[in-house]
Amino acid sequence: MKVVLTGRVPAEAVSMLAAEHDVIAWDSEVLIGRDELLSRVAGADAILSLLTEKVDAPLLDAAGPQLRVVANVAVGYNNIDVIACRERGVLVTNTPGVLTEATADIAMALILMSTRRLAEGERVIRAQRPWQWGMFYMLGTSIQGRVLGIVGMGQIGAALARRARAFGMTIAYSNRTAVREELAAELGCVRMELPDLLATSDVVSLHCPYSPATHHLISTNELAAMRPDAFLINTARGPVVDEAALAGALAAGQIAGAGLDVFEQEPTVLPGLLGLDNVVLLPHLGSATVETRTAMATLAAANALAVLRGEQPPTPIPA
Ligand code: GLV
Repeated sequence: MKVVLTGRVPAEAVSMLAAEHDVIAWDSEVLIGRDELLSRVAGADAILSLLTEKVDAPLLDAAGPQLRVVANVAVGYNNIDVIACRERGVLVTNTPGVLTEATADIAMALILMSTRRLAEGERVIRAQRPWQWGMFYMLGTSIQGRVLGIVGMGQIGAALARRARAFGMTIAYSNRTAVREELAAELGCVRMELPDLLATSDVVSLHCPYSPATHHLISTNELAAMRPDAFLINTARGPVVDEAALAGALAAGQIAGAGLDVFEQEPTVLPGLLGLDNVVLLPHLGSATVETRTAMATLAAANALAVLRGEQPPTPIPA
């Protein structure tokens, strides 16, 4: 059968697929163009997709009716039109679990970078601007004893909570459903409605999926509801935050700072953010370790292989 990759993935995953099927790989770090992709997917039984490529109705139709599975190499699958897949009998899988720790590391790193002004300090040294140890020089905010508000308490949210507790933070969360009692006891976390969480937290970190329901979940009113000394961290998806509203709030000192690993129009970053010292900007590095990317790609390959064998894939997207 024919498996089409929409982008370059670690060799381990390609070998797994090639052992059983014809693989049409994309061996460049340059993103595949839409027209190229539309022509390559023709006749595909499986598509291994990266989050940079949209898997929508035209792409599914270009593949043809034999297509059985779209295996996304990411936990988020907002790049995939799930309804169009369902209508065509195409299964969708993602890669939860294997990127939990790496992404929680980046969220914790952003908390430390933004509260302790680490990127700002690094910029001073690299620009060879004068500096001197000083009692009042570049003071940040201590996180010990502060409240971390987690929006979306899934696996990554819980992994961040464990890290933050080790740094002395206490945990609040908002989620559609309450977490299991054992997890709540382990994390010592309290559940709040989003408005209460925003008003209470010293750091708000976003870990919800992106969907129409979470588009601009954090916008002007939500930023206004946050404390003026609070920080916002986003390692989820860019459009969960209204970036223009955030830039305005940061410039006006309405909140203390932000740490962003994701953006509304990646790889473009809103120019209004670029000149601000109170925002840390990372180029979507959440899962970017050799180990994690290999685990993601091999899990996606295992998902595709299982479906092509007529078996249940390890990690289908939630029903
Ligand atoms: C990365 O952003 C992912 O969703 O896996």
